[in-house]
Amino acid sequence: MSKVYLIGAGPGAADLLTLRAARLLAEKAEIVLADDLVSDEILAMVRPDARVLKVGKRGGKASTAQGFIHRLMVRYARRGKCVLRLKGGDPFVFGRGGEEVEALAAAGIEAEVVPGLTAGISVPAAVGIPVTHRAYTQGVTLVTGTSGEGCDEPNWRALAQGGTTLVIYMGLSRVLNIVARLIAAGLPPDTPAAAIASGTLPGQRHVKATLADLPARVSAEGLASPAIIVVGEVAALAVATVSSPDISARILAA
Ligand SMILES: C[S@@+](CC[C@H](N)C(=O)[O-])C[C@H]1O[C@@H](n2cnc3c(N)ncnc32)[C@H](O)[C@@H]1O
Repeated sequence: MSKVYLIGAGPGAADLLTLRAARLLAEKAEIVLADDLVSDEILAMVRPDARVLKVGKRGGKASTAQGFIHRLMVRYARRGKCVLRLKGGDPFVFGRGGEEVEALAAAGIEAEVVPGLTAGISVPAAVGIPVTHRAYTQGVTLVTGTSGEGCDEPNWRALAQGGTTLVIYMGLSRVLNIVARLIAAGLPPDTPAAAIASGTLPGQRHVKATLADLPARVSAEGLASPAIIVVGEVAALAVATVSSPDISARILAA
């Protein structure tokens, strides 16, 4: 029986993958179970004779049942295959990595986690937003903008009063509702805010606004998921435009 690697693929750009992840993909992979958010550029780094199965789950689209993913991991590990479970960002940040480690443990299979850069920190950074900054905030809170499927609605009132930068994952489709709740809970409408879509990828786009204006700006600019929303003083530090980094193409061509 082989162990299963739960690997964080980072926010998208292949050169933001960790060296450990790149080595496992290129040298050890036999079965790769990949999420939708893992970029094609990263999948191209998988050993050519490995079998890649896309088991993605994107909000609003048909998705692979979590239990089925557990069964696939267990089945291939029991056959002695080296299984790489490849996830966007970090496996343990809104990535169901905890559930997958539990499922593997219940089946008596060892899991090794390879952390990745989580979108909530790396994507704001890609447009110049530091999620903490001593002059503006004492901390950062990572929160999901969606509820359901066993998750409670975040406590927006407590979050509005917490005084930290809010980094909201999976919130774009509910941005109007989230903004209304935060303002109703006392966050000033002129609080700086930003939304960044497809961060670190070639299609990266962002808007910089006030909290009250954010939904209209997101809609006017046609931003689409995946996106990260940042609320707090640090969002004002977002640059207006970003020149696209070309380092990724150069590394892969080398
Ligand atoms: C299911 S969560 C997975 C998070 C992931 N485990 C992580 O640590 O980044 C998916 C959400 O992450 C955010 N996300 C992931 N990649 C992103 C990217 N390249 N740009 C913007 N947001 C991204 C979006 O909010 C998306 O809806």
